[in-house]
Amino acid sequence: MAILKIARMGHPVLRRRADLVVEPSAPAIHLLVQDMKETMADAGGLGLAAPQVHVPLRVVMFHVPPEGVDREAMRDQPMPLTVLVNPEIEPVGDELELGWEGCLSVPGLRGKVPRHMRIKYRGFTPDGSFIEREASGLHARVVQHECDHLDGVLYPARMIDMGDLMFETEWKHWLKPGDVVEDDE
Ligand code: NI
Repeated sequence: MAILKIARMGHPVLRRRADLVVEPSAPAIHLLVQDMKETMADAGGLGLAAPQVHVPLRVVMFHVPPEGVDREAMRDQPMPLTVLVNPEIEPVGDELELGWEGCLSVPGLRGKVPRHMRIKYRGFTPDGSFIEREASGLHARVVQHECDHLDGVLYPARMIDMGDLMFETEWKHWLKPGDVVEDDE
């Protein structure tokens, strides 16, 4: 187990399309996943994609902690740590929602990003099982954010108003009550 170095915006590994994993339950993938878990726990993110630790493979992990869910909207559910190999996403409906995001590869910044409100996603786990779920709200947002990393896309590229890009310190200081959506991804 090891804490891995996190690639930052501008590194070529974050700009390329990551490769499909040929054998999702291979020992090398198990090792990668263990190191990614440790790295994510250390950095405190909601999710992590393999390219963020300089490995150009289609592996992501994420969780939705209870404190991150939007209880008033009643459409978010906490989700324990989930690892997906070769994930695929499909929007459900065409509703988009703006929400604040951060990224361990874009440290110190926050931005407001449009995402599909509801999605279906599927993928393999390193123990060889297959996951298929529907997600909405923060859960859907985190999955879309992480899977974007596999296609070389960072959240600022999804923003429609760059006036909504800010330093995290200012964001925390000035954010209106009720505007809080989530934590780092
Ligand atoms: Ni990210």
